[in-house]
Amino acid sequence: MPEDNGNDIDDVKRELGSVLRECHEKEAFNFALFQHNPSAITVVDREGKVVKSNLARRHAHDPLPPLGEALFSGDSECDVIMKGELQKTLDQNVVREVSDVRSGGHIFSFTLAPFTHGAIVTRQDITEQKRAEAQLVQAQKLAALGTLVSGVAHEVSNPNNVMLLSLQTLRRIVDDILPVLDQLKEKEGDFDLGIGSYSEIREDIPEMVASCYRAAERINRLVADLKNYARKDDGIVLDLFDVNAIVQSAADLMGTTIRKATHHFKVECADSLPPVKGTARRVEQVVINLLSNACQALPNQECAITLSTAYNPAAGEVHIMVQDEGEGIPPESLSQVTDPFYTTKHDTGGTGLGLSISRQIAENHGGALVFSSTGSRGTLVTLTLPVSQDSEDEQA
Ligand SMILES: Nc1ncnc2c1ncn2[C@@H]1O[C@H](COP(=O)(O)OP(=O)(O)O)[C@@H](O)[C@H]1O
Ligand SMILES: [Mg+2]
Repeated sequence: MPEDNGNDIDDVKRELGSVLRECHEKEAFNFALFQHNPSAITVVDREGKVVKSNLARRHAHDPLPPLGEALFSGDSECDVIMKGELQKTLDQNVVREVSDVRSGGHIFSFTLAPFTHGAIVTRQDITEQKRAEAQLVQAQKLAALGTLVSGVAHEVSNPNNVMLLSLQTLRRIVDDILPVLDQLKEKEGDFDLGIGSYSEIREDIPEMVASCYRAAERINRLVADLKNYARKDDGIVLDLFDVNAIVQSAADLMGTTIRKATHHFKVECADSLPPVKGTARRVEQVVINLLSNACQALPNQECAITLSTAYNPAAGEVHIMVQDEGEGIPPESLSQVTDPFYTTKHDTGGTGLGLSISRQIAENHGGALVFSSTGSRGTLVTLTLPVSQDSEDEQA
């Protein structure tokens, strides 16, 4: 019998030991779960005072009140709302969710769960999530805008083409008619035309027609930009083309504009670039957009623009670079320059579509448009284009 007793006690001890170990394990597990939870968790007593809180201190500027003090004691909007919500949780003994509470530039969601001695308050920072949601809404709006824009562009383009055609003819008619009117004036003396005497407005007439023509041309460009912008699928033509040739033809097309903007324009083409696959005309359009921005950024003709190409065999990329010594882009605007309609040229008729379209074209070619600007030292824009796989194989 004594032996049996001894066995019983040992059994009980062993049993107790394993129960204790299990308790410790559970305790450690709960502690880790509590302490290292990414949400800020605070346990409060029935009066809403802090009993303990975990490590999730996301914001140094927003520390929890010390132990024993009310969790929501301030007079901020967040504290006022949450104090009321916590009271309701304690009174009604039900779990409550409170979302979109703003505090210190962040957006939080709270879960308030009652338990025997008070409540557990869990706070999650949902600022990023909210921002992502807002971005999605913005993207959807832009897509809708794109559809609207292409409709409007189409409607504007037809009457504008009629104007352009008529103005072209009118310009030639005016050229022919002025000598006739001159003769009439010689013979019969001065006469009234519209707003004044013929001799007063004689010199203005060709300019009036020319400025109408320029305005219609500008509408045409805007419409073309808008159509380009709204075009969903680019229908990339898979041609192999020589990047240096594109760069040279873009520089030629922009010749007049470039000469007006700077006395220091250089084209530096790298030797033996592998060909790139895509639509040459679209890539040329990107280079033209970049050159035209560079010209517009220059404060005087002494500032330089350099257009160059390079090959990076390791990355399998051809680079087209437009470097200018213009006003530069402030760091806080760098991420915005390719947003559709972002422009700082409201006064001079910027559409804010050039870079948005350019980025789209770069991405459709599997490439990218990278901006770097050091403020006063100007801007470097790099268009990277992947080298065609076929041509890589040929070179290998
Ligand atoms: N080379 C540059 N130097 C300085 N700012 C630039 C340059 N290129 C672009 N930007 C900025 O980016 C904006 C958007 O350019 P873009 O999409 O071509 O539209 P737009 O030229 O019609 O304004 C410009 O208004 C300008 O503020
Ligand atoms: Mg532009």
